[in-house]
This record gives sequence, C-alpha cells and structure tokens, in this order.
Amino acid sequence: VTPAPSLEFVVLTLFPELFTSFVKTSLMARALRHGKLSFEAVQIRDFATDKHNTVDDTPYGGGAGMVLRPDVLHSAWRSVDDAELRGEGGQLTVYLSPQGRLLDAPLARRLAQIPRLILVCGHYEGVDERFVDECVDLEVSIGDYVLTGGELPAQVLMDAVSRWVPGVVGKEKSVSEDSFEGGLLKYPQYTRPREFNGLEIPPVLLGGNHAHIAAWRQAEREKRTRLRRPDLWERYGRRK
Ligand code: ADE
Repeated sequence: VTPAPSLEFVVLTLFPELFTSFVKTSLMARALRHGKLSFEAVQIRDFATDKHNTVDDTPYGGGAGMVLRPDVLHSAWRSVDDAELRGEGGQLTVYLSPQGRLLDAPLARRLAQIPRLILVCGHYEGVDERFVDECVDLEVSIGDYVLTGGELPAQVLMDAVSRWVPGVVGKEKSVSEDSFEGGLLKYPQYTRPREFNGLEIPPVLLGGNHAHIAAWRQAEREKRTRLRRPDLWERYGRRK
C-alpha cells in the first residue's frame, strides 16, 4: 500500500486546463507519482444551476467587470469540503487575491503542515465577499500586481508549499540553503567550464576547504542581501 499523501491540493477554478502542464512537469509530477502530494481540479462551472451555466454577474452598486456568484462557488466548495478534517484544523481554504496576505517563505512552510489545501481561483473582478466570509480561511496574494485570475498564483503557491513537504525536493538541504532561509538571499553558484568568456571561478571554491567555502558563501549571502534587499537585511539584523 502507498502511504496517504502528506498534502492534498484541491483547486476550484474556471480553467482546470491551465493546471495540466504544471502538474505533469518536474517537481510536481515526481511528487504526485511518488504519492507525496495529490492534486484535483474542480470546474466551478459544473455547479451552475441555470441553463446557460452562469457563474458570474454584474456588481451591485455598479462598476466594471463581473463578480463570481457566491451560491455557485459555495456548491463547488461543498463538493470538496471535508468538514471533519476542517474541524480538526487539517483543511484550510485559501482564496488567491491581490487583497490577501503576501506569500513568503515562512507562510509557505506553515501551509505545508496542513494536510488538505483548497485553493480558490477567482476571475473577472473577483468573488462575492459573502463566499469569502463563509468559506475562506486565508486570503493570499503573490505580489503587489494584478493578474487576470488566481490560476498562476495558485500554481506559485503549490510550488512554494510543496518544496517544504518532506521528500518532494530530493535533497532537503537544498531547501534550507535556498534564498530566504535564515532571512538571507542565496550565494552565487558556479559550474564548469572553469573559464568562461575570460571569467574565472572564485578561487576559494577550487580549494576544497569546506570551512572556507562555507564562510565565503555566508559572506556573499550577507553582501547580496545588504545591497539588493535592504528590507530583508534590516530584518536580519534585528533577529540577531
Ligand atoms: N489574483 C489576481 N492577482 C493576484 C495576485 N497578485 N495574487 C494572488 N491572486 C491574484
């Protein structure tokens, strides 16, 4: 018997086909094959009740665009909701929107502890707020820009979260040395050839002294963070 996946992703979307190549590729495909993750996309439109399969309508109070109906979304959500698991804190419903909390490494790491994540992808001008009030536990944004829909943000979240599920990234160590771990950016990396366009490898990396290499990498992480991300650098200083 294969063990139950550590993390189930359930996506509510009007465009399930946007997930096909993503889940067939690379990290996701391997994790799904090995049973570390599971993935299911649910077509919101299947829960429309009129003969035109209407999922959206114009906003009350006027304004541009269309808003997803709460009743249709609620039916779609109910079809995947596991009330018992939810009651135990084992399921979380996440709505991707620019109004949400910014996704960062600590949030991704925390979401990886939750066995079942329901990701709701909005479109048009958004979703009726009553659905958010009733069903959504957490609203998440992937950055301060507006995208056409929640599908790319959902994929970004799935990728960032999956990296924290044990066994999904081959060498656990590579996750812990990544950018943002310990609050610093990653050090520069080099591979063959030893000379490229007249450029050499930093000599310390050729010496084989692991303590020197570790010290050099740490110094590079600090230098980059200070120059490129003063915001992270300031927080790093306050942590110490
Ligand atoms: N939907 C549209 N834009 C978004 C963003 N920046 N983050 C999350 N969901 C979104």
